[in-house]
This record gives sequence, C-alpha cells and structure tokens, in this order.
Amino acid sequence: MRIAARSKKEYLGYPTQKPVALLERIVKASSNEGDLVLDPFCGCGTTAHAAQNLKRNFLGIDISIYPLDKICRARLKDTRNLKIMGLPTSFAAAAEMDAFLFEQWAVTLMQGFMPNNKQVGDGGVDGRATLREKPAGESGLVIAQVKQGKPSADAQRALLSQILGGKASLGVFVTLHKVGDTKTKQQTIRDAGSYEFGGVKQYPRLVYWSIEEHFAAITPPLPDMMLTREESQRDLLTE
Ligand SMILES: C[S@@+](CC[C@H](N)C(=O)[O-])C[C@H]1O[C@@H](n2cnc3c(N)ncnc32)[C@H](O)[C@@H]1O
Repeated sequence: MRIAARSKKEYLGYPTQKPVALLERIVKASSNEGDLVLDPFCGCGTTAHAAQNLKRNFLGIDISIYPLDKICRARLKDTRNLKIMGLPTSFAAAAEMDAFLFEQWAVTLMQGFMPNNKQVGDGGVDGRATLREKPAGESGLVIAQVKQGKPSADAQRALLSQILGGKASLGVFVTLHKVGDTKTKQQTIRDAGSYEFGGVKQYPRLVYWSIEEHFAAITPPLPDMMLTREESQRDLLTE
C-alpha cells in the first residue's frame, strides 16, 4: 500500500511532522478500537490524530513545550478529554521553570506568536508574530522578548533599539512579575512611540505584559495578529 506524502493541507509547520496516513497504518496494524496508543516522541501529535480517527485512546510525550500544547490542541477534532500535563498552572510553577522552556511557553500564550527555537544567538528575540493590519510601508513584524528574572533597564532599552532600528513594527516585553511604573519603563514606552492605523487608533510600539497578569486573566494589550499556521489550521482539520 502506498502512503501519501504529508499534504500541504495537513502540514502544521512542525519540521519533523509525519503524514497522518502513515501513522494510521501503524496504529491500525498494531492495535484495536479502544486500545491505548503511546507515542513517547509525539511531536505535533500525528499519532494522536491517527489514534483519534481510529477510535483509540492516546498518551503522548514530548520534550518540547510547543507541540504539546498549541499544535495538539489545534489539530485534534475532539479535545473534550484532552489533558496536557507539564505546563505550569500557577505563577509559582512558572517561576520555577527552566529558563528556555519558560521563554517558549510564555511566547505561546500570546495568539499568533511562534517561539524562537534557538537558545543562543537569537539576538534577544524569543518569539515573533505578524500584525494583521500592517502600518503602511512596514513589515508588520512583532518581536517578543521574555525575561523570567529581574528585567534590567538594558534589556528594556535593547528591545526599544530593535524597534527604533526598524527591525520590527512592534515589541512585547514579557516578564514573570509585572514591571512597575518605573522611570525606565515610562521612558522606554515614550521613546518607542506609537503608530496610527486607519487614521483612527493609536497603538503603542512597545507593550509590557507579564505572567502575573496571565494568571489574573489579563491578556496582552496587543492589536490583532495573523494566526499561526496551526491556529488557523484548526478549522481546516475539523471540517
Ligand atoms: C521525529 S519527531 C516526531 C514527529 C512526530 N511523529 C510528528 O508527526 O510530529 C521526534 C520528537 O521527539 C522529541 N524529543 C526529542 N528528544 C526527546 C526526549 N528526550 N524526550 C521526549 N521527546 C523528545 C522532539 O521534540 C520531536 O518532537
């Protein structure tokens, strides 16, 4: 039997993603309806997808925070019984996370953002998104910088210089604790300035948001972003 290659429609942007038809063949050959299928390297959840299509239960493990949460949630048709473990459910747990996982997780909390997978040499950029409505003549790129520890004035100014240097239209400074209204913060926001869209609304070019606010159900004060491939893929996959 020839297995179709992963189709464009199926592709979620995960680099090592396998075709669901291949995993369906393996799941069918090795289990029965109602069985439990385990994939300890589940990536973007292709085995979970196949298992659900074939009425099997599924248990998946992956070292990366990103596929476990955003992608699996987006691609499964039925997420009523989906339980994702290992992600922080409290401020205290977030504070104790490994620094790199914290950066990746914090970025994925904001709609439209993709985390940077590089631990070093990322130029201080931990995530990227694209504005749905771009200011005229700009790329519409939005960059996120994440700090789990105390945010230094230098780090805040570094993000500012990327915006002033034209690297991005907008920047988000994400911290664990909410940054108080310090002189540095006020000055950085002032220096970043704002842009007007459609002659109606002014958006600040530098925005602060924190995990403390996330756990208080306060979302980042950002304009609409383009959805990531997997966020927009959800509708296609559940058709
Ligand atoms: C070949 S990919 C799996 C692709 C998957 N079948 C799919 O379609 O998305 C291998 C996965 O193993 C994960 N991985 C690597 N080392 C791991 C480890 N020590 N524990 C758990 N997962 C790990 C990677 O993050 C990656 O997602």
